[in-house]
Amino acid sequence: MQRFDAEPSHTRGHPVLLDVLTGRACPRPPIWLMRQAGRYLPEYRSLRQEAASFLDLCYTPELAVEITLQPVRRFGMDAAILFSDILVVPDALGCTVRFEEGAGPKLVPVRTRDDLRDLTLDGLADRLAPVYATLRLLRERLAEETALIGFAGAPWTVAAYMVEGETSKEYARARTLAQREPALFGALIELLVEATTAHLLAQIEAGAQVVQLFDSWAGVLPEPQFVRWCQGPAARIVAALKAARPDVPVIAFPRGAGALYPGYQEAVAADGLGLDTTVPLAWARRALPGVCLQGNLDPIALLVGGRTMRAEAERIVAALAGSRFIFNLGHGVLPETDPDAVAELVHLIKSLSLQDT
Ligand code: CP3
Repeated sequence: MQRFDAEPSHTRGHPVLLDVLTGRACPRPPIWLMRQAGRYLPEYRSLRQEAASFLDLCYTPELAVEITLQPVRRFGMDAAILFSDILVVPDALGCTVRFEEGAGPKLVPVRTRDDLRDLTLDGLADRLAPVYATLRLLRERLAEETALIGFAGAPWTVAAYMVEGETSKEYARARTLAQREPALFGALIELLVEATTAHLLAQIEAGAQVVQLFDSWAGVLPEPQFVRWCQGPAARIVAALKAARPDVPVIAFPRGAGALYPGYQEAVAADGLGLDTTVPLAWARRALPGVCLQGNLDPIALLVGGRTMRAEAERIVAALAGSRFIFNLGHGVLPETDPDAVAELVHLIKSLSLQDT
């Protein structure tokens, strides 16, 4: 295995995640996992029962802080990701969101001009105040070397949930509205660009040191639609964040973008780029020069665990060794995952430090 930079410039107590995102030398790849908090952890499942609903968990700082810290305490990841959800933004815009046990999110759909008129940015900061309180508490309670990540859903993915009203395989209703009534759909996207920018800036003000933009359904759009609804809005959000807070790294995750990744990165200029499980790493390293790559272990390999997981993790590290990269999954941890496999993975990556061929 190729070795990582043997002369780290970072000092003790400084998050390695920030080092790698800002181009400083790093003794090993940092590791955190998308959906590192959640149902695969028994301690999450027991706290989940204490709140009346999933959104109550998100809006109760003491509970959200505890859930954020659970995986970090148990496994020692290099970053904590705020416990919240991408659907708190539509909720704060006035679109009713519920999470049903086993059925995923249910939203009152937004499909017409009238539906859109009911939404407003006015109550956003108040409704999301508990999220920012959670971040402030986290910054007090986290060790200095653990980075705090804030996040939001990207406008296309959030709009897709708002138009469908629920999870969907194809997002056909959202894609239809986007092509049949682009002015209406565009107005929804613009509202989400504003709301998302405000939400991310408020998270940064409250203590988030890195923010990630999740575009989980970027992979269902043809190129012109992808450019219009994923790439353009992400570019505008990142530009606004950079204008206000050039010091805070942004990771973009256009899941499933495939061959559209390079054009996306050229337009968005993220500091970090999340790669989904399908992206070939040798290609990514050539096609995406300069940017810090993040990914892309298959959550299934983590679920299978053991030798399968170790071999896949080592393949990824070998492919990206010597370049700036953050170890992560290519999508979120699955609820059936064995926590011991997560412990082994974090240990494996953290013990890479200064390892030689
Ligand atoms: O990563 C983390 O640990 C932080 C917390 C986090 C959650 N959701 C908590 C959650 C993050 C970063 C998200 C992002 C999110 N939410 C995305 C983007 C990433 C992705 O997975 O593609 C999306 C699309 C959502 C929307 C969402 N939230 C769905 C579709 C569901 C239901 C399906 C599921 O995975 O459970 C949720 C619920 C949700 N969000 C749970 C958690 C822990 C489970 C809620 C429960 O306990 O029942």
